[in-house]
Amino acid sequence: MLEIYDDLNSTDHLPQIPEAELSDEQVLVELKKIKERLGKRVVILGHHYQQDDVISFADITGDSLELARKAAELTDPEFILFCGVHFMAETADMLTPADKKVILPDLRAGCSMADMANRREIDLAWKHLTAVTAEKIVPITYINCTAALKSFVGEHGGSICTSSNAEKVITWGLSQGEKLLFFPDQHLGRNTCVKLGIPLKDMVVYDPRRLHGGLTPEQIRDAKVILWYGFCSVHQGFTKDHITQWRKKDPERILIVHPECSFDVVQGADLAGSTSYIINQIRAAKPGTKFAVGTEINLVNRLAKLYPHLDIVSLSPYQCLCTTMYRVRPRWLLESFRSIERGAPINVITVDAETKRFALKALDQMLAIS
Ligand code: 13P
Ligand code: SF4
Repeated sequence: MLEIYDDLNSTDHLPQIPEAELSDEQVLVELKKIKERLGKRVVILGHHYQQDDVISFADITGDSLELARKAAELTDPEFILFCGVHFMAETADMLTPADKKVILPDLRAGCSMADMANRREIDLAWKHLTAVTAEKIVPITYINCTAALKSFVGEHGGSICTSSNAEKVITWGLSQGEKLLFFPDQHLGRNTCVKLGIPLKDMVVYDPRRLHGGLTPEQIRDAKVILWYGFCSVHQGFTKDHITQWRKKDPERILIVHPECSFDVVQGADLAGSTSYIINQIRAAKPGTKFAVGTEINLVNRLAKLYPHLDIVSLSPYQCLCTTMYRVRPRWLLESFRSIERGAPINVITVDAETKRFALKALDQMLAIS
């Protein structure tokens, strides 16, 4: 299914510790010892969706933009253990010098949204769109995609964005051409464009499963923004019904969501922003403030524990979990450390030089805008 999984017929990537060898408690004890032993040689970066036991070992935590920036600034470590998903580790690899190795503790930690657009599909779409309209199209990709798509964007004069700088990047994109092609997340694209004053009627959805994206030439020519059909299956779990139910049950509760949620959910919520935005809003709240949070459950539960003077629950009763983020376990983190100590690091993420050339251009463009 995924380009990045093509090499997984080998078993090299699989964690080496038999499940039964160490108890969960022993793993945490061993992790503490080995982290101390390896000292500054290794830095652990942790995305906010990681489970608490993993976050407790992270030297740096953040949203996608913060982690990309921090990775680029690191000078000391030889190894970056990236506790997040594959596209984040790829980004860190591209932003760090070749002598630093980026390790993803479990290679199966992908992102289902990133899987919803591949280079072949984007090339096909681009060929069609640029044949249908003479207007300049600027490609913008959400950072949740493979390096190959980042490379496409760099090659065609566009930029990458994250959920925390999408407004700035889209504004920049519209200053560079007449139209935008935004992929792979239709929701982040739509929510941000509406916030910037672009009416819904000026946006169309390109569905790569249908001939010509399911769009007529007129629809393409009339559109200001062409949104790729992709979405996050975790944030798709939050619905308009959840908003309505909370409004009825507890009108004072603040509804705060991630912009990967659908348009209806973001419109119905009080606040929307990246994972760090959500954390900062909650951190600054007065005692007793009530929140229903529309994002990944590990983060929601952590916030509820960290701020017991607030009342924090998930927006959905079904507790949306990012199962791929959840694949990174302390056990695999320990195995990553052990492989470094053995002098034969496993699960090293490397982007080839050709892909990196243009992908880095698009990343640098994003960092310059934000
Ligand atoms: P943030 O950049 O907001 O942390 O989002 C990353 C992500 O994958 C959300 O699903
Ligand atoms: Fe991908 Fe959604 Fe998981 Fe974020 S929460 S990593 S977008 S699947």
